[in-house]
Amino acid sequence: MAHPEPATAGASEAHGHGTGEARPATGRRSPALSGRVRVPGDKSVSHRALIFGLFAEGTTHITGLLEGEDVLNTAKACGALGACVTRTGEGAWEVTGTGGRGLASPAAPLDFGNSGTGVRLMMGAVAGQHVIAGFDGDASLRRRPMKRVLDPLTQMGVELVSSAEGGRLPLTLKGSSETKAITYETPVPSAQVKSAVLLAGLGAEGETVVIEREATRDHTERMLEHFGAQISVEPHGAHGRRITLKGRPHLVAAPVDVPADPSSAAFPLVAALIVPGSDIILTDVMMNPLRTGLITTLLEMGADITVVGERTEGGERVADLRVRHSRLKGVEVPPERAPAMIDEYPVLAIAAAFAEGTTAMRGLSELRVKESDRLAAVAAGLAACGIAHEVKGDDLLVTGAATVKGGGPVETHMDHRIAMSFLVLGLASTDGVSVDDVAFIATSFPTFMPMMRGLGAVID
Ligand code: S3P
Repeated sequence: MAHPEPATAGASEAHGHGTGEARPATGRRSPALSGRVRVPGDKSVSHRALIFGLFAEGTTHITGLLEGEDVLNTAKACGALGACVTRTGEGAWEVTGTGGRGLASPAAPLDFGNSGTGVRLMMGAVAGQHVIAGFDGDASLRRRPMKRVLDPLTQMGVELVSSAEGGRLPLTLKGSSETKAITYETPVPSAQVKSAVLLAGLGAEGETVVIEREATRDHTERMLEHFGAQISVEPHGAHGRRITLKGRPHLVAAPVDVPADPSSAAFPLVAALIVPGSDIILTDVMMNPLRTGLITTLLEMGADITVVGERTEGGERVADLRVRHSRLKGVEVPPERAPAMIDEYPVLAIAAAFAEGTTAMRGLSELRVKESDRLAAVAAGLAACGIAHEVKGDDLLVTGAATVKGGGPVETHMDHRIAMSFLVLGLASTDGVSVDDVAFIATSFPTFMPMMRGLGAVID
């Protein structure tokens, strides 16, 4: 049973898309930002901690879990699949797993809301089990491609009982305890696809191998090892990896301390860079090299970011970041960096709007299949705020200016990162930037509004 309680105090303002009502807001020209904050726990690690807790023997203790809607939906799904999931304090959760007994068939379809990670990883989890489960989500998630996960999973033996057109949600899967171990080369660089195959591989006899031409975030691999699976990772080609998982491992509960999410830290980080006089500290930010593409890029742009006290906590590199207002210059962002900063392009486009010259972000095709078509949504938002830019194929070019007027309302298309990016833009604009709906910010960063205001941001 899952007992998810409401997220942390101060979160209520960003909540409410369950009511279907859009909640507009405006980011306004702000005084220098200052202060020291820890953004909430990493979303990718939070989903995975719950899911591995579901499979493990014993009770997994999680601290620093992100209590955003996406992760809370995964917690509920874990409960429906047979785990006992309990919230014991702020960010503190316990998951008593199914161990060797296998997962249970949920009584009702699992609702993943806005979360591609939640639904795709759980489809993998179910694939290798003797379980029938329905999967659904909100209008944004129903539009997103699921075939990229269904293709390898059907090769492994899962049955697609029903689905909407093109294998989209809502869909029903029948898993199999006779899952076949396969070798799968992912056609798109996607940690979600890789993770779904590896999770299905937990139920397979023999070795499941995933080959990726470009390395993507490796939290699943790290956590598999942490929970006792036999997994090996070798380099593959110039930028890729070959991951081998031995099937049917005995997973044992292991504690997980979730570091602060670098993809959430990106918003106050860019805000401090563009609001004159700012000087802030972001603590405990995960510095996994497959997540730090934005920091690499901003440093190349001349950003004043100091990495302090880099250390290893719970198997991940973390550090505190001191960020000061900076004069930025435009740079080329190579396509091979995309997997390490895939969620950060919208907010990089905001930083680029203040840089001298043009920032060229190359190879962004995967941005088209996120919570919204982020390439189109960013371009439309930049246009609404009078920022010079161009979309050329899968590339986005943004030309900065000394001052940005602002404008809006920017359409956020049920996408948390579009909403947060353009509110951040407003903080350094002359006239402010309004966005049409901030409700979806609660999916990943429920404390965004109070935290930003605590740093001095004017958002109303
Ligand atoms: C995630 C992988 C990425 C990323 C998403 C989280 C994950 O998606 O955009 O926010 O936790 O595995 P893709 O795997 O589709 O690139």
